Amino acid sequence: MLCYHMSETKLMVFKVKDHYYKKAKENNYLARSIYKLEEIDQRYRILKSGDLVFDLGYYPGSWIQYTAKKIGKKGLTIGIDIQDINNKLSSLENVRLFKRDIFDLTSPADLEIGRPADVVLSDMAPNTTGIRSVDQARSLNIVEQVFAILPLLLRPGGNFVIKIFESADAQNFIKGQRKSFEKLTALRPKSTRSISKEFFLIGLNYVSK
Ligand SMILES: C[S@@+](CC[C@H](N)C(=O)[O-])C[C@H]1O[C@@H](n2cnc3c(N)ncnc32)[C@H](O)[C@@H]1O
Repeated sequence: MLCYHMSETKLMVFKVKDHYYKKAKENNYLARSIYKLEEIDQRYRILKSGDLVFDLGYYPGSWIQYTAKKIGKKGLTIGIDIQDINNKLSSLENVRLFKRDIFDLTSPADLEIGRPADVVLSDMAPNTTGIRSVDQARSLNIVEQVFAILPLLLRPGGNFVIKIFESADAQNFIKGQRKSFEKLTALRPKSTRSISKEFFLIGLNYVSK
């Protein structure tokens, strides 16, 4: 993964191969992001056996690898991303993948599913520009879209995890969503890179509007 690091005189682009990157490689996980979901799930018990899960922005698929194992054979994870289908996940029987844009999603039927999910996950991130205000606005645009279609995607009582880039506008938006869940809380997982401005919002027991 590419990271941008400012020195006093120049912008350096370099590959960060930190502890979590190496651990993910050793364990054949497709991305180091798996450790973010693992920490969230261990703390808040998001996923359980038999769940139907929508993973928005799944690519390359480390969250899919985690959820597929956690929900077991009776569960089903549906992954959506604008990128081409990742065939490295094709051996997972309880996984279905779609090449879709979240902005075109109007119902679970678009994903060949007849009911809302028990859990909705979103690790979606926009194409970043390095210009903080632009990246924050693009991230918030995605977050607002996910909340707009949440009544269609998530069953009442379901759980929710979404990545957000920190900003004053994001905090204002979140304040307006407090009543959507019995519990709504934020977490910055330990494996988050120190330069990253992202955090995760975790919603437990969705209250349908
Ligand atoms: C950080 S990556 C997800 C990593 C993934 N959770 C994993 O563990 O491997 C974010 C993904 O969001 C996807 N994405 C961004 N905007 C999207 C959109 N509008 N619709 C669907 N996917 C989107 C990107 O294509 C990218 O693959």
